[in-house]
Amino acid sequence: MTTLPKNPSELEEVEYTGSPLERMAACLAEILADNKNPAITDKLKYCHTLAVGIEKYVDALSTPHTPLEEKVFQDTANEDWATRFKEGLVSFIPPKAMMTDQPEAAFLRVITQLTRAERILEIGMFTGHSAISFAVSKLVKEVVCLDVEPFFETFLKKRVQGTELEKKVTVVLGPAMESLQDLKNKGQKFDIVFIDADKTNYLNYYKTIMDSGLLSERGIFLIDNAFWGGSVIPGLNGGLGSTIHEFNEFVAQDNRVEQVVVPIRDGVSIIVQKQ
Ligand SMILES: C[S@@+](CC[C@H](N)C(=O)[O-])C[C@H]1O[C@@H](n2cnc3c(N)ncnc32)[C@H](O)[C@@H]1O
Repeated sequence: MTTLPKNPSELEEVEYTGSPLERMAACLAEILADNKNPAITDKLKYCHTLAVGIEKYVDALSTPHTPLEEKVFQDTANEDWATRFKEGLVSFIPPKAMMTDQPEAAFLRVITQLTRAERILEIGMFTGHSAISFAVSKLVKEVVCLDVEPFFETFLKKRVQGTELEKKVTVVLGPAMESLQDLKNKGQKFDIVFIDADKTNYLNYYKTIMDSGLLSERGIFLIDNAFWGGSVIPGLNGGLGSTIHEFNEFVAQDNRVEQVVVPIRDGVSIIVQKQ
């Protein structure tokens, strides 16, 4: 478990993991270092402490990783991705912030238990950290994970082999839009759909699932990276931030659903069908 910082100097260390608060903290640390105006130093320190402290607080007070989540998390962080890329085993070098972290893992586990979900669809699996967060809940029967990289499937399978999750996690390789079509043709239904793959296709995934019957009657969506580091905010818009903002706006105006954008880590939206 992450321990709470005991003094403000411990708050100086900020590692970017994709959250807007961490970006803010990094900016504030730079301003603090350059600041020559003692009149605002205390206020700057307060803002910096708040920005870093809230993230640390959420880390420290959210339930820790289960052992298997921790293993996949550590193994993924320690993998020599540059070498795997040179060997041609992966088609890109995954950035550090690609994987869900410990508080988001707790969030996924809590939502899974709250909804009493049995079947989960994950679009964008990576090494399976979030897939495990879903699969550990006792009620969950299957987590179907879509990804394009065979190495990620091998990576996860090695780690779930021999555990009680081995039979719960199914990996479907191929572009997610094609896999969704196959799942639809097979008449599959899901209680939670977690969208966390290529951001430019978020809207396509959402529309396809809403219109294809892949969502069960009580089914919900969870959407990762709803903030895209804060660049969804008008005025800070740019690149994929604008794409995700358009997606968030589309859902906000979709009368079939209700959406709440939860400010955990890089933002996770919960979308439920109106009853
Ligand atoms: C942000 S990562 C997923 C992280 C994972 N959910 C976790 O928390 O550990 C996005 C994943 O989407 C996959 N991906 C990207 N484009 C895709 C596509 N068109 N179809 C299926 N998977 C795709 C990538 O290979 C990558 O593993």
